[in-house]
Amino acid sequence: MEREGNSEPKIIVFTCNWSPFAQANMAGVKKVDLPPFFRMVRLMCLGRIQPAMILKAFELGAEGVLVLGCGKENCHYDFGSKRGEEHFQTASRLLHLLGIDEKRLKLCQDFNDSANISFVKVVEDFVQELTA
Ligand code: FES
Repeated sequence: MEREGNSEPKIIVFTCNWSPFAQANMAGVKKVDLPPFFRMVRLMCLGRIQPAMILKAFELGAEGVLVLGCGKENCHYDFGSKRGEEHFQTASRLLHLLGIDEKRLKLCQDFNDSANISFVKVVEDFVQELTA
């Protein structure tokens, strides 16, 4: 996908309301600089994501889609994180069939209440991977 000039990529971040969104919120409270070129779609749990939502984001012009959830042991809805991973894999297979580079889609389920993982770093790393 071609970008005008050296503009930043358009990225959609589907995020679980709990651990990953809480970290994003905390980054905002701490006034950490967040990349300005992504938009978040908050879900109550990763289990709510559907492959069609991911495909729609690409159809509407997203250059990358990042899917963030709690770890499987930390999901507030028991099987939601696992179900979300399954739907992510379905979307990934469909992207492959459509000829869309699978590197444009990434899943991170490393978030939990005590993990020292940075929401900002996950987003920045994804942007670096996309623009490399
Ligand atoms: Fe976060 Fe289910 S509550 S993935």
